[in-house]
Formats: sequence, C-alpha cells, structure tokens
Amino acid sequence: MTTQDIIQLTAAHTLYDWSVQSAVNAVAIDYARGIYFWDVHGKRYMDFNSQLMSVNIGHSDPRIIEAVRRQMERVAYVAPNVFTTDMRAEAGRLLAEITPANLTKSFFTNGGSDAVENAIKIARLYTGRHKIIARYRSYHGATAGAISLTGEPRRWAAEPGIPGVVHVHDAYPYRCRWCRDRGACTLDCLNHIEDTILFEGAQTIAAVIVEPVVGTNGILIPPDGYLQGLRELCTKYGIVLVADEVMSGFGRTGRWFAIEHWNVQPDIMTVAKGLTSSYIPLGAAIVSAEIADYFQDRMLSAGLTYNSHAVACAAAVACINVYKDDRLIENAAAMGAVLKAELQRLTERHVCIGETRSIGLFSVVELVSDRETREPLAPFNPTPKDMALMNRLNAFFRENGLFTLARWNTFFVNPPLCITEEQLREGLDIIDRGLDLMDAAIAAS
Ligand SMILES: Cc1ncc(COP(=O)(O)O)c(C=O)c1O
Repeated sequence: MTTQDIIQLTAAHTLYDWSVQSAVNAVAIDYARGIYFWDVHGKRYMDFNSQLMSVNIGHSDPRIIEAVRRQMERVAYVAPNVFTTDMRAEAGRLLAEITPANLTKSFFTNGGSDAVENAIKIARLYTGRHKIIARYRSYHGATAGAISLTGEPRRWAAEPGIPGVVHVHDAYPYRCRWCRDRGACTLDCLNHIEDTILFEGAQTIAAVIVEPVVGTNGILIPPDGYLQGLRELCTKYGIVLVADEVMSGFGRTGRWFAIEHWNVQPDIMTVAKGLTSSYIPLGAAIVSAEIADYFQDRMLSAGLTYNSHAVACAAAVACINVYKDDRLIENAAAMGAVLKAELQRLTERHVCIGETRSIGLFSVVELVSDRETREPLAPFNPTPKDMALMNRLNAFFRENGLFTLARWNTFFVNPPLCITEEQLREGLDIIDRGLDLMDAAIAAS
C-alpha cells in the first residue's frame, strides 16, 4: 500500500476521534522501537508523549510480543465467569502487590473509560447512594458515565449526561482564585468540596473521583495535604474515594502510582494505559478488601465479554515484570530529577513560559503571552484560530523529529520511562529551540 493509499483509505473509511475530520493531517507510521518511531518515509521521531501517555515501557519490547504470542497459541479467550486462566490469576496477584495495600481485587475491563464506568457502578452498589463528585479540570473517559464525570469541554457534547454528577473546582495553585494572591496555599479548595458535600447531602454521595495528578488538563500536582484532606472528608462522610490513575499510574510519576507520593489509600483505583503499555487494550477497577467483601455474598451486577481477556492479561503480566526487571520506576524518578532541573532552566531562559510542572516523567510546559498577568498563550477551549502560535510550535517539534501533544496553551514532556539522560537532553534541546520561536513571536506582538 502506498503512503497516499494509507492516508486516503483511512480518511475515506475510518473516523478520527476528537477531531474535525477535514482538519486531521495524520502521519502514517511504519514501526517503532524504544523511545522512537518511524513514519513510512523513514523519518524518525522521538516519542516525547509515549503516544497517549501510555507506552510507558517503550515500543516493541520483545518480552511483551513473546508473552502475547505464547498466550495466543495456548488460548486467546475464555468466558470470564465460567473459566479462568493463569494469566488472569497472575495479573490480579501482581496488581494487588503493587497497588496500595488495602486494594486487593481487580475487575478487568477493555480500557480506562469502562474501568471508570465500573468504579462508579461498584461505588453506587456498595454505598446505596447515587451522586458522584468529580472536578472540572479532569478527563475520565468517553463513555456515557465517564464523559459525564469529565469536567473539561469534551463533556459538553455528551450533555445532559448521566444523572447525579456534581463538579467541583480543582487544586491548581498557579491559577487558584482562593490563594494566588495570598502567596501560600490555604487548601480552601477542600473547604469548597466539603461545602458541596453538605449542600448536596452527604447521604446521597457515593463517590468522589479524582486524578491524583491531573493528566490531560495540565499535569496539576496537588499541594501537600490536599489528597490527605480529601481522604479524611471521604472517610468522615462514608464516601468512596476513587483514584483515577489511568494516566498517572505505572511509574509515570516516579512511583508505581501517583497517590503514593502522599501516602493515601483510595477505596477504588482505576487503571489502563501503562497496565499493558498499550500493547493490548486492558483496564481495571481495583477495589479495597472491604468493597470486595461486600460482593462476596451479593451480586456484582457488572460484566464485559472481554473481562479478564487472557491475551490482555498475559500482556499485563509481562509488562509489570518489565517495569520491575528494568527498574523503570526508579529510572522515571532519576530521569524526572534531570527533567525538573532542565524545565527550570528553560523557565529562566524563555519569557513565554508561565510555569512548568513535573513529577517523575509526567510534565507540562504552560505558555503565557505575559508572565505578569499570566495571560495564556491560547485561551481556555480555544478555536483553531486561537491555536495559531501553539500549532507553529508543534509543527517545529515535528519537523525536528520530536512528537508531543500540544493542548491549548500547554505541551507535554512525557517520554517512555526507559529513556536515557542523553535522549532526554536531545529532545529538550529541540524544545529549547522551539521556545525561542515563541519568545520571538511574543516580542513581536
Ligand atoms: C485519567 C483518565 N481516565 C480515563 C481515561 C479513559 O481511558 P480510555 O481512553 O482507555 O478509555 C483517560 C484517557 O486518557 C484518562 O487519562
């Protein structure tokens, strides 16, 4: 198939997600290795976003390929509530081992959205309540319930959504209306959540769901005390705390899971992406022993044809072992320290940077047209015209062989966790040169 055929047939017979179809300018990809991938013309790209913050172990690892091949040859699929497999058993055991100590049982799904759907369902069944509190600067998935929980504009097209969802503000120190002018975090955002719980009626609220470190909506790292305070509120009012670690999990932040940085135990954790590093679709809602016990003699009214898919579980087992064998969590923490220092250096060099935020290899550069006023370089929910400068920056990155995502006035630096210091510095050098362009554009405006 020629490149032209690939592009034309894709456009003629498939739909791109989250896009105006005519605006998509897709690149046809041929193969990938480690932190690199190559297009069909042989051009090499550094993958500085691990595709969708998900190919955590890097591309084309032969150990995953072998595990998948072996499982395919044995048995690809069995009915999930009649049969089980060693790979399902081992994936469950490994998740219980690496997640916070109170989480013991996994309900396997096809990805992150349905992990969130099932977390909501389980929280509702367990508490007998129906409302869910979620935050505005969040993304929890695209299915009916998950998109209703999502706070950002992608929710709007799915409204009115499922009933019972209440949104609250997030912890975003750089743009916090409560404490920005006080010079220090007061954690007033937690008081706002407690007020909301009281106004909504605590006895009606099943769960609070948060991304412990917010992903797509800006790598928002909560101030110390925030997640601990949220845990206390949930315990006080008998509300299930759901940590959505679909993006922040599996070493991305330099720990197995982001919530560990604050020593907090959620009641349910949702995972996907890094669980198999996207080699095969798989997600899970992992529940506490207490919640699991509740269903011991009561019906768990939830199911999916591909629950605990044997090949996906085999990929997860192999993937978790790669994190361990190659010490990728440790590497993410070590490379995260290099990244933090380099982002600081870039902030000092470039007036277009308002703030950089990073934790491990989970990071964002937030661009502003005016450092004093913090005016974003592209506004909230921008039109294509508003994105002209950001698109120029993204085009520069691509021309120079670096792939990352630019979203609104931010772009991400989230490479695979196997990255070396030399590779990291090589990519950051391209970013440095791209930011020169933005500085010049601001100076000229
Ligand atoms: C925090 C979070 N939750 C849920 C999802 C949805 O996962 P999926 O796209 O696998 O359905 C995502 C996807 O980006 C996510 O980042």
